[in-house]
Formats: sequence, C-alpha cells, structure tokens
Amino acid sequence: MLGTEAKPELFPEVFVGPRRPLLKWAGGKTQILDVLRKAVPKEFLRYAELFLGGGAFFWSLARPGSFIADSNPDLLNFYHVVRDTPDDLLDAAAQLPITKHDYYRIRSLPAGLLSPVDRAARFAYLNKTCFNGLYRVNQQGHFNTPFGGKTDVKVLDEADTHAASRLLRKCTILCADFTESLSLLSEGDFVYLDPPYLPIGGFSDFRRYTKDFFTESHHVRLAMEFGKLRDKGVKALLSNSATDKIKFLYKSHFCVTVMAARHINCNGKGRSKIPELLVANYPLELDNVIS
Ligand SMILES: C[S@@+](CC[C@H](N)C(=O)[O-])C[C@H]1O[C@@H](n2cnc3c(N)ncnc32)[C@H](O)[C@@H]1O
Repeated sequence: MLGTEAKPELFPEVFVGPRRPLLKWAGGKTQILDVLRKAVPKEFLRYAELFLGGGAFFWSLARPGSFIADSNPDLLNFYHVVRDTPDDLLDAAAQLPITKHDYYRIRSLPAGLLSPVDRAARFAYLNKTCFNGLYRVNQQGHFNTPFGGKTDVKVLDEADTHAASRLLRKCTILCADFTESLSLLSEGDFVYLDPPYLPIGGFSDFRRYTKDFFTESHHVRLAMEFGKLRDKGVKALLSNSATDKIKFLYKSHFCVTVMAARHINCNGKGRSKIPELLVANYPLELDNVIS
C-alpha cells in the first residue's frame, strides 16, 4: 500500500567511539584491529562481545545496540559509571594524587565498600598507574600489581570518556560469566569472544583478570558452546593462542593464524610477535598468516 513503506532515515545517528580504549588491558586487541575488522561478517543484526576487557574492538566498531559483558565486577562497575555519570567520574579521578605512597594507599582501599563512582575512579587510577597496565588480582580478588613508577599519567581522557558514555548509553552491559552471556545471544547476532588465552610456555599466571582462573576445562566448555552457535543463527569469531590444544578444540571451524605484538613475560621487558589463532563459524576471507 502506498505511503506505508518504512522511510529511510535521512540522518542516521553516527556514533564515534573513544579514540582509544579507556583502559590498558593485557591481551587488548589494538594490535590486530585491522585483521579483526576484515573478519567481521557482512551482515548481522547485533554486535556482542562477552570477554570485554578494555574493549578495543567494541570501541572501534562503535555500534549502538551492542551487547557487552565480562565477569570482572570492578571492570563492569567502571563501565556502568562511565555510562551514567562520566563527569562525576572524571572529577573523582582527577582528585587522586599520583605518587608511590598514594598508589599503595589507594590500592589498599576496599573496592566493595566505596561508592560506585569512587570505585570506578580507583579502578581507572590503578589501571593507568600500575606496573605495565597489568590487571592482576590475588585469590581473594584484591588487585596486587605494584606501582608503575610514572607520575605524569592522565588517568582518563575527557573527550574519550564522554564518547564512551554516549555509546554505552545505547548498549546493554552485563557482569556475567560467559556461560550466562552466551545463553542470551539470539539469531542474527555476531559475537566476538576473546577469552583469557590458554598459556603458552612460561607465562601461565600472567593473564589473571579475575580471582578465578580460566582453566583448560573453561576452554573446553567454551569450545563446546562455540560449536552450538551456528545452529542458533549466531555468527561467532574467537581469538586465542595458536597452541596445538586450541587448534584441536576448533579444528572443525574456519581458522587463521595472525601475528600480534605482545609482552611475552610478566616483567614487561620482552615484547615480540607471537602467533594468535582466529576462529570463525563462517568462512574467513583473510590471508593465512598476517605479520
Ligand atoms: C583477553 S581479555 C579481553 C581483552 C579485550 N578483548 C580487549 O581488547 O581488551 C579476557 C577478558 O575475559 C574476562 N573473563 C575472565 N574469565 C571470564 C569468564 N569466566 N566469563 C566472562 N569473562 C571472563 C576477563 O575479565 C578479561 O577482561
């Protein structure tokens, strides 16, 4: 019938995410963004990222309506506060003095007893001033990375924090284990999964983002869930270390190896390119090895 067609939007809202992630995050994907972008399927309805961390890929795609999740409660509190009260957060972060003495004082504050804004400011502060931006907690869940030694650090960039806030207001953010967040995916979604990597060689405890280890059995469970997504109509892309075990777990999917610059030991000195595996449940049109 004439006049009932959906009218195309003349000026669709264009979202620009922050120029860079708000946080430094071990295993962050800034290094391989170009490759990840080429791996995005041509058609999908909603973007989802369930091991969000610093969210390098999420910010670069900047798609309103996305579904993002991670199991780290401090991280998710931070994103909730960025979304809801970015100015309060910027004020609170700007008031935290950066000296070695203050670092250890602020690190010793009980995160769970602080207001959400103070907790988020403390989190960003520790993230930017700690050694090598390495988020690491002990078995009680207490952040235990030492001071990084630099005092001329900008904890949060104002423009980036506001850009992130605008985007997050259009997204769904959940603090959840991947089992729960995977169950919330639906037909038409494109999900990116970037779990803590299966350790290669000597840095087994390096990626300790939460008080619980991400063990080999978690990787097996994740691979089993990954195998079910195609039947659910969900396009899925995953990255992990290019180890024989991971290649075996995903051998029935589309896999390519990419090279990413990484710190290769926990003292932050060694940095070299290591192979990472990209796995998809749809054809990946990439060169086999990208260096
Ligand atoms: C490799 S990092 C993700 C890095 C991210 N892609 C980036 O660009 O910064 C892995 C993330 O998985 C989260 N994580 C660990 N165990 C999890 C679990 N069981 N369920 C959901 N997230 C988990 C960690 O908190 C961490 O942020």
